[in-house]
Order: sequence, then C-alpha cells, then structure tokens
Amino acid sequence: MSEEKLGYFTEEKSIEAVIERISSDCDPRLKEVMSVIVKKLHEAVKEIEPTQDEWMKAIMFLTETGHKTDDWRQEYILLSDILGVSMLVDAINSRRPNGASENTVLGPFHIEVVPETKMGTNISLDGKGEPMYVHGYILDIDGNPISGAQIDIWQANEDGFYDVQQKGIQPDFNLRGKFFTEANGKYFFKSAKPRYYPIPDDGPVGKLLAAMGRHPFRPAHFHYIVQKKGYQTLTTHLFDPNDQYINSDAVFGVKESLMANFKLIKEIEKINEHGFDKPYYDVEYDFILAKL
Ligand code: BEZ
Ligand code: FE
Repeated sequence: MSEEKLGYFTEEKSIEAVIERISSDCDPRLKEVMSVIVKKLHEAVKEIEPTQDEWMKAIMFLTETGHKTDDWRQEYILLSDILGVSMLVDAINSRRPNGASENTVLGPFHIEVVPETKMGTNISLDGKGEPMYVHGYILDIDGNPISGAQIDIWQANEDGFYDVQQKGIQPDFNLRGKFFTEANGKYFFKSAKPRYYPIPDDGPVGKLLAAMGRHPFRPAHFHYIVQKKGYQTLTTHLFDPNDQYINSDAVFGVKESLMANFKLIKEIEKINEHGFDKPYYDVEYDFILAKL
C-alpha cells in the first residue's frame, strides 16, 4: 500500500495526506472548500518556511483577533477588510449588468432599526459641520424611475465619528436616515459634509496595519443601502473625490463610479431655498438598480 493510502505525512506529500482524510460522504461544497484551503495554506507555508516562533506569532495574532471580537466589535471582518477579501467576496457576489450602480463594503456602523425619516429632512440632528444637500433619482437600467425604493443612509460627522462611537456627544441616530422614494424616483435630504476617519485600529488589525507601514484611514464617504422588491439590493457609498485618502482607502472600498461631485454653492437664493445659513455642498447622484 502507498504511503499516502496509509496516511503517512511527508513534507512533499503534505497536501495529499490531509485532503485524503476528508470523507467522500461529507458535504461536497465543504470538501471542495477545505481541499482548496488546505492546498493554498500548505503552499503558503512551503513558500514562507516560517520558524516555530513566527508560526506562534501568527497563532497569537489570530487568538488576539478572537479576543478583541464581541457583539459590537468584529475584528475578523476588519482583518478581511484590510486584506481586500471583503471587497473581493462582495465583487464576486454582486456582478451586475453594465450601467448598474456598484456595491462596496457595508462596514460595522450600520444600524438596522432607525426611525423612518421624512424625505427632505436634515439628518444632521446637532446642526454641526458644513451643510450638504444630497439629491438624485433611483432608476432602473432603462432609466425608468423606481418609486417606493427604501433608502437607508448613514455617515460620520465632520470630526470623522459615527453617532454610535460618540454616545452622549452626538444625538442618537445623528446622520442616519431611512426613507422611500416618491413616484418619480426622486430622493433628497440635508446633512453635513462627512470627514475621513480611521477604521477601529486599537486592536491586532490596527497593529498589523502599522507594522506593514499602512495608515488606517477611509476617505470621506456616506453609506447607502437602496432596496426595492424585484431588484438587487445595492449596498454602497458615495465618496468625496477630493479627500486626501481617496487613493489609499484602508479597506479598498473606493470605486471610480462611486465618486460624487461635492459642489460648493454660495448663491444666497439657493442657500435660502434650502433653509441653510451659509454656503453648502450640493451632491447630486443617481443610483441605478439591476433587476433580480
Ligand atoms: C465604514 O465605512 O463604516 C467601514 C468599513 C470597513 C471597516 C470599517 C469601517
Ligand atoms: Fe463608513
């Protein structure tokens, strides 16, 4: 009988020795996934040839990542984000026809249950920051308006913090909104210009970023989830193309199609029309939903 069949482990045949043990009765997808992972992992170890100390460091890194994770903080997702894996999984699962708006990462600051907001509302509850008027249409691929689409938005403030990171400093549900499009597909709301911010970097993932000489910042953006029955749910952001981190997002979430134009409006009539008391940024962007 061959060494493989006997299950002996050798450096040369390490991949086969492990894959061989996976039962032919097990779930075929699990068998496929585990076989690929074992193959790639062994290939990486053979290429890297870690010392025992280095391997223990890797184990301790994963241990710390687990310890840092709780109901609120998901350090493993953060690890997947900074390695570009979250964006890759998202890209694979949201391939869309030409013309449809593109997805990007969800991030950890979304709240499912948010009071429904009236269209046009100012979601900046503390009135801080540079005012912003955001508007556009939700359309299908043929340019037809989609009415009754739910738009869920959330963003950081002018200091780069979400409400949930500053409980007692920002009002609850600050810079969050949930509303439905009108018959013509139009959406509009008032807000405050967001700022760049660091991803949570006080854990092992932050230490890894620093050790690799990478910064932890995401360029200024605001988040959208747009959904309507019969269409693919769009989870995305709009980015400020003038942000200093636009070409080096820590989580690789930026796509060219998701850059909005933040146009500074100084005309007094327009300022008055929107009820602002100073110049504001006009952001116009249409979202195109793909059918399911
Ligand atoms: C965010 O944009 O909210 C985000 C995305 C990934 C990691 C951390 C934050
Ligand atoms: Fe964000």
